[in-house]
Amino acid sequence: MAKRGMQEAPVHGRRVLVRVDFNVPQEPNGQVADDRRIVEALPTLNHLRAAGARTILMSHLGRPEGHKDPRFSLRPVARRLSALLGQPVPVAGDTVGIEALELSARLQNGQFLLLENLRFHPGEEANDPAFAAQLARLGEVFIEDAFGTVHRAHASTVGVPRRLPSFAGLLVEREVHELSRLVTSPSRPYAVVVGGAKVKDKLPLLTSFLGRADRLLIGGALANPFLAVSGAPLGASPVEPGLEGAVTDFLRAAESARTEVLLPTDVVVDHPGHSEAEVYPLGQIPSDAVALDIGPETRSRFIAALAGTNTVFWNGPLGRAEDPRFAEGTRSVLGSLAGVPGFHVAAGGDSARLAHDLGVTGGFQFVSTGGGAALEFVQGLELPGLAVLPDA
Ligand code: ADP
Ligand code: 3PG
Ligand code: MG
Repeated sequence: MAKRGMQEAPVHGRRVLVRVDFNVPQEPNGQVADDRRIVEALPTLNHLRAAGARTILMSHLGRPEGHKDPRFSLRPVARRLSALLGQPVPVAGDTVGIEALELSARLQNGQFLLLENLRFHPGEEANDPAFAAQLARLGEVFIEDAFGTVHRAHASTVGVPRRLPSFAGLLVEREVHELSRLVTSPSRPYAVVVGGAKVKDKLPLLTSFLGRADRLLIGGALANPFLAVSGAPLGASPVEPGLEGAVTDFLRAAESARTEVLLPTDVVVDHPGHSEAEVYPLGQIPSDAVALDIGPETRSRFIAALAGTNTVFWNGPLGRAEDPRFAEGTRSVLGSLAGVPGFHVAAGGDSARLAHDLGVTGGFQFVSTGGGAALEFVQGLELPGLAVLPDA
C-alpha cells in the first residue's frame, strides 16, 4: 500500500509542484479559522526548502464551482503560511497562465509560490486534460501531499501526476501509514464510534465495519433511524425517512457478522418551554422534545464498551456538540480514551475540529486531516489520488 515517497524525488534546484489541502475553515471575513491543515503540511514544505527546491503550491478552498470568487481567495492562507514558514509566500493571481508561468520560472532555490484557488477554473473538478497540462507545465516534479483531497479525481490530483514524475509527500505517507493500521489487521478488540447527522452517507461506512470491528457504538442524529426501527417513539427528533429497510438489513447483517451494535438507551433533549436540557430514557421522550445528545446511562455504557479495547476509530459527534448543553456525551466518551491504552484515531471534518474544541485530542494517537478521504480510506476503498502514484 506504500507509495514512492518524496525522499526519493530529485528536487534540488527543480520546480516542484505540490498539491496541498489548504481547504481550511474560514472566519466570516475570510481569515483562516483553523490552520491545522496548513501546519500539517509544514514537514513536507520544510523538507523541500532545506533541499533547495523551488516549490509551487496548489490547493482548492471551498466550492466556488469554477468561478473566480474573492470569498474563496487563498490570499489569507498565504499570509498564514508565510508567518508559519517565516518567509514570504507570493500568490499567483490566476492559477494558470502567463503570470503563474513567470512567477514559477523566477523562483530561487528554497522559495515558495502559491497558486490561486484551483476551483476558480471549471477544468479542476472536471479533470480537464488541457487544464491539467497547463498546471503540469509549471513544475518538473509532482508531490501529492493533499491527503484530504485524494478521494477526488480532479486535474490537480490525477491529471497532473499522470504528466509528471510523482511522489507522496510526508503528510500523505503519514496518513496512509496510520490509517492503514485500522484496515490491515487492527489489534482487537476493535471498536468504532460513529455519530453525526448524515445517515445516508454513513451507512456504507458502518456496513464496512461489520465483521472487521468487534463493536459499533452509534450516537448523534445517526442513531435515530436505528432507534426508530425498534419502535421507540423519538418525540420531535428528525428521522431521515425511507431508511427502514436499509437499517433493518444492517442490524441483521451485524448479527450474522457478530459485530455488536450499541445504541443509546437514554437521551438529552431540547424541550420547548423548558430552559434546561432534560434527560429521558428511550420510550419516554415527550412528543415535542428533540433528542440532541446521548444520556448519562448511555455515556457509561459507551465508556465501559471502550475500556477493554485495543483499537478505536471515531467519526462524528454523539450529539449537537457545538452547543455546550449537548456536548457532554461526546466530551465524556471521547475523553475516556485518554485512560485507555491502545491505538485511537479520529477523522472527519467536523469531528477533528470538535475534538480540539472539546479538549479531547489527548485520547487520540492520530487525528486525520481528512474528512471524506479518511472515511473512504478506512472503508478500504481505492482513492484515485493515491492509486495514480507509483508504489514504493
Ligand atoms: P463529520 O463532518 O465529522 O463527518 P458530520 O458532518 O456527520 O461529522 O456530523 C456533524 C454534525 O452532526 C454536527 O454539526 C452536529 O451538531 C450534528 N449532530 C450530531 N448529533 C446530532 C443530533 N442528535 N441532533 C442534531 N445534530 C446532531
Ligand atoms: C475536504 O475538506 O474534505 C477536502 O478538502 C475536499 O473538499 P471537497 O469535499 O469540497 O471536495
Ligand atoms: Mg461534516
